[in-house]
Amino acid sequence: MQRSDKPLTLRVFGRNKRHGKKLAVVTAYDLTSALIVSSGGADAILVGDSLGMVVLGHENTLPVTMEDMLHHCKAVVRAKPDIPVIADLPYGSFHISAEDTVGNALRLVKEAGVNAVKVEGGRQRLEIIEALVKAEIPVMGHLGLTPQSVNALGGYRVQGRSKKAAARIMDEAKLLADAGCFAIVLECVPSELASAISESLSIPTIGIGAGPGCDGQVLVFHDMLGLFDKLSPKFVKQFANLGEQACQGIARYVEEVRQGDFPSAEHSYDAEPQSPDRKSEIDSGSGYLAGVENGKG
Ligand code: KIV
Repeated sequence: MQRSDKPLTLRVFGRNKRHGKKLAVVTAYDLTSALIVSSGGADAILVGDSLGMVVLGHENTLPVTMEDMLHHCKAVVRAKPDIPVIADLPYGSFHISAEDTVGNALRLVKEAGVNAVKVEGGRQRLEIIEALVKAEIPVMGHLGLTPQSVNALGGYRVQGRSKKAAARIMDEAKLLADAGCFAIVLECVPSELASAISESLSIPTIGIGAGPGCDGQVLVFHDMLGLFDKLSPKFVKQFANLGEQACQGIARYVEEVRQGDFPSAEHSYDAEPQSPDRKSEIDSGSGYLAGVENGKG
């Protein structure tokens, strides 16, 4: 799988906003998902701390560590996806001091090779956002339902429904833009509010459960492809049902192994290649053990 268009940088965010072209962002957490997202033509990858739930099996995103994020970001970057890679700063990595925050973000840039970081929160994050921007680390903001605040918010619920709450989120969006964020994720806010924020900012808004008026959208890889059905929020649209297909594939494999139908001669090796041609039958794909002789027959 290879992306055919020319590589994109973070500049795509500003460019698309100026040209009124919607941005499509998808999360990815490893080499394979990064290749799929980039080959599908997405504009950027978010290595979200949602990996805590859909990959690591935690109840929420709070236990995700810097080491978890580094591990998964490195795998995503190794895919050379040709689109910007943005990494979530996990809970606890930006709550101590601006200095500590910049140190953590620098690790994601220097050790993992990501292009930007995302920080959840509004007014209370201004100091650290400014420190990150000063350190030349591009920052994506995140307002509305910020899952790392699950305890403080008392659960996952739509934010900004009252006039007062909507005004606060609008205000904070402007503050984040002024602090230097290149884009802001708006999660689970009423469509009218998201549209008003999007119209009032010169940087793009990326919505998730924030309606069609945002400048772009983001979805979690496992949710949109039907690979994770423990939670199914209203904002998720399933664009494929890979979970079901994968279960069927595993069931067919189990059956064939039990029946002795797999592996057949087609998937087995002889002691010696049968003809000189066989030597050139090398798998040039990128799968597991790529390069092993096809060696049929
Ligand atoms: O962690 C994540 O995947 C996110 C997106 C849902 C915006 O923050």
